[in-house]
Amino acid sequence: MSHFTKDDKLAKLIHANHFLLPVVNRFGIRLGFNDKTVGTVCNEKEINVNFFLTIVNTYSNKDYFPESELLSFSPMLIVDYLRKTHQYYFEYLFPEVERRLNRVMDGCKDSCEDLQLIKGFYGKYKEELSKHIDEEEETVFPYVKAIVYAYEKSLKLDNKFLSYSMKSFEQEHTNVDQKIYDLKNIVIKYLKPGYNDNDCNAFLFAIFQFEKDLLDHARIEDKILVAKVKELEKIVKHG
Ligand SMILES: [Fe+2]
Ligand SMILES: [Fe+2]
Repeated sequence: MSHFTKDDKLAKLIHANHFLLPVVNRFGIRLGFNDKTVGTVCNEKEINVNFFLTIVNTYSNKDYFPESELLSFSPMLIVDYLRKTHQYYFEYLFPEVERRLNRVMDGCKDSCEDLQLIKGFYGKYKEELSKHIDEEEETVFPYVKAIVYAYEKSLKLDNKFLSYSMKSFEQEHTNVDQKIYDLKNIVIKYLKPGYNDNDCNAFLFAIFQFEKDLLDHARIEDKILVAKVKELEKIVKHG
């Protein structure tokens, strides 16, 4: 599959993959691109174009891995981007899924015990994902910041970070990815009649979107952030 370049028109990216809309928003880019290319928009907004291309291409193509010259940006740009994505989950995606689930529950005609179970499962999932995100914000990102700082200033890594490594972070995603699939699957396979079709579909669409965003997000963490920080780790920890 081909990938986007700085000469592509930004409108073309969105036509090719409309899920990129919230992604470009995180860069401060909003609709009304006219015929501007990625390169022009990044220039105007003072966005690192290599970083922008790495993110949109990783999002759009699960087999994409950027050429090394594209990876010259600071890992702190990735951290900043990932933080914005976490914020998007808490401020928009979670509330949106809940709003749609509540609508299905409000319209349910029977005893709706299955919907109560789904709500319970969703609640546990939200707790787990929130814990995962907190761990990234409170442990992983400060560790990345310390590694980058030590690397840039040619200093030793702060002692409190010595026992941690990017390796431990790599194994974390499978669980949260699997659970959102299970949530969808319960609704698809076991929901009993009594609900409104359109409301339930809208609820499922929101979970599908959330799942897709999460998988793409995790891929950026695993492939791009881990790869970049591991390189710096080698230099900072082993000289
Ligand atoms: Fe994350
Ligand atoms: Fe994550």
